[in-house]
Amino acid sequence: MPREFSVPGQRLRREECPVKVRIDVGLCQGHGRCYDLAPGLFGDDAEGYGMVLSEDNVPPEAEEDARRATLNCPEHAIQLIEGT
Ligand code: F3S
Repeated sequence: MPREFSVPGQRLRREECPVKVRIDVGLCQGHGRCYDLAPGLFGDDAEGYGMVLSEDNVPPEAEEDARRATLNCPEHAIQLIEGT
């Protein structure tokens, strides 16, 4: 059964709740776990620092990868933004 989220004025199922990822470039130290764990969402720049590949919402099938990458960044540089 899909989880539901409450936002002002409506209830959303989990798959209807958009998620985006961001990297705080001031915190990223280039550990690379994001692009190892979620290569469909993150890449690396010429110096090995993480980059978000798309500004779009994370596809529902990649949301678990986004959460895993967020939780595994040693610098806590990845932000998971929900409900945007
Ligand atoms: Fe940077 Fe964290 Fe990825 S330090 S390269 S955002 S795992």
